[in-house]
Amino acid sequence: MGIVSTTPMLKRAKANKHGVVAFNVHSFDSIFWVLEAAADLRSPVILQTTVGTVKALGAKNIVEVARVASEHFQVPTGLHLDHCTDYQVIKEAIRAGYSSVMIDASMYPFEENVARTNEVMALAQSLEVNVEAELGKVGGVEEDIVVAEEDAKKAVPEECKRFVELTGVPTLAPAIGTAHGIYKGKPNIDFKRIARIAELVDVPLVLHGGSAVPDEDIRRCVSLGMAKVNVSTELKNAYSAAIREHFASHPNSLDPRAYLQKAKEAAIEMAKAKIRLVGSENTVVPAFA
Ligand code: 13P
Repeated sequence: MGIVSTTPMLKRAKANKHGVVAFNVHSFDSIFWVLEAAADLRSPVILQTTVGTVKALGAKNIVEVARVASEHFQVPTGLHLDHCTDYQVIKEAIRAGYSSVMIDASMYPFEENVARTNEVMALAQSLEVNVEAELGKVGGVEEDIVVAEEDAKKAVPEECKRFVELTGVPTLAPAIGTAHGIYKGKPNIDFKRIARIAELVDVPLVLHGGSAVPDEDIRRCVSLGMAKVNVSTELKNAYSAAIREHFASHPNSLDPRAYLQKAKEAAIEMAKAKIRLVGSENTVVPAFA
């Protein structure tokens, strides 16, 4: 089975009015944990890595481990490069076998964002690699991409339409009020804006900053056409907390299998909750069953 393109996966999700969770993975173990959760729930899933994770683990290694794990668990698996500003890293990920890449040129003026996205489209599309681009600016911290609250900017619906026309990008991440990381208060999601964007733009939309967003808000975003829901912070917090708890009660623990088992259980529980939340449980098409 291996790694599959996320373009048809997300189109199908949008048509069937459910989401697909894209979990940021930071270690080889977490690839297995996420895929075990998806397989248990018979759900498609997307693994995504930041540029920092590519640098830490190696694009080829990530692809090989993801391929082996997806074959083991028999689950449709997308592999996506998250928030990349560097064309060379995008090229490296595509060459290694990623099935989707994000070119994040949201910090540039509209025309430059279009030009940078088109450069990646030219490389990716002939290889059936999905491309995601961002409009507006999602606030918060995603590793070395830091956007202060006052610099966050919501996407303009008419610009989204024009952007998709000019680039042909198959997935679009419009900033609509969520932020990366855990919120201080309740996120102020602009549902009207999402509805307007979805009216003007046919492609599946991507929700960044999916952690700690109230469940009913996630469901509403998905129902409005946000087919890819990114979750990073909550997943890594869940398994890091489990490891911390293990060492608090077993300070001299030496066996990685003991603390990684706790991490695994916490990660699987969190991943399952998010998969159920977006409604992708039991949506694996028969060919994959
Ligand atoms: P969170 O860390 O808020 O879940 O955001 C994840 C994300 O959007 C990755 O691009």
